[in-house]
Amino acid sequence: MILSRDKLAPGIHVMRIAAPAVARKAQAGQFVIIRVDERGERIPLTIADWDRDEGSVTIVFMEAGKTTRQLATLKAGDSLATFAGPLGLPTEVERFGTVVSVAGGFAVATIVPIARALREKGNKVISIMGARSKDLLFWEDRLGNVSDQLIVTTDDGSYGRKGVVTEPLKELLESGQRIDRVIAIGPSIMMKFCAKTTQPFGVKTIVSLNPIMVDGTGMCGCCRVSVAGVTKFACVDGPDFDGHEVDWDLLFARQRTYLDQEKQSLELWEQGCRRP
Ligand code: FAD
Ligand code: FES
Ligand code: MG
Repeated sequence: MILSRDKLAPGIHVMRIAAPAVARKAQAGQFVIIRVDERGERIPLTIADWDRDEGSVTIVFMEAGKTTRQLATLKAGDSLATFAGPLGLPTEVERFGTVVSVAGGFAVATIVPIARALREKGNKVISIMGARSKDLLFWEDRLGNVSDQLIVTTDDGSYGRKGVVTEPLKELLESGQRIDRVIAIGPSIMMKFCAKTTQPFGVKTIVSLNPIMVDGTGMCGCCRVSVAGVTKFACVDGPDFDGHEVDWDLLFARQRTYLDQEKQSLELWEQGCRRP
């Protein structure tokens, strides 16, 4: 059952859901696969937070197409058909030293529990969060609370520093201070360019891949990615991988596989058709 639902920014929502079994086991970096109704498609969403005492899990989602639009119509008291998880491997959290966490767009929700876990392990955490414009920024306070330093960027300069997240990332790498690891989460293109930025500096860079997923348990093969030339299933071998070893072109191509069907499905939804 949905316990609360709020709007964080235009088209971006946060939901707290009663799911005690998931809350009990959730760890930073894991995700759930949900179905909005009995005939709905399965979509993966990251576990943004959890409360083991309350038995609740928080998800943050952006309206991207039909299913996320449908999800955004639900409110407190409504129920989802299924909410399966926690899935995927948790993010590796060790005492690395200084870690730069980079979040693009709504992925700030994914980064917060990771940054918190890294800090609790004794790392110095420098966070960079970026969005297209000020109105799309949220959880700056939450990320700030779990970071030693926070840099905010907007593409249009309406808040924080004008520009994209790779610029302060490059400056940190060039500053001469020791950086032991970078973790970058956001749109695939942003993660690719973060990995490209860190590569010349030889700093290990973890990215959280978001290929299309169906079962989330390693059986359907839909989330196939190539890392260091080896086929991996992001749902069970990831979603975190070494960004320097990801075949980004393959990821982009596979993410576009069902664009026509997704477009058609959204058009039908907008015309008022409520069939899945
Ligand atoms: P559609 O129009 O169907 O799809 C829009 C685009 O989303 C597609 O072009 C495709 O690239 C992608 N997509 C579509 N179906 C799937 C699918 N079954 N699995 C993965 N990607 C798909 N989004 C959030 O807003 N918040 C999150 O916390 C979040 N966490 C994610 C964690 C993981 C591990 C992965 C793989 C994806 C995550 N996503 C998250 C992306 C989210 O799953 C897609 O935005 C969603 O499935 C889109 O569905 P739709 O029907 O609304 O849009
Ligand atoms: Fe089916 Fe990963 S989603 S194998
Ligand atoms: Mg869809």
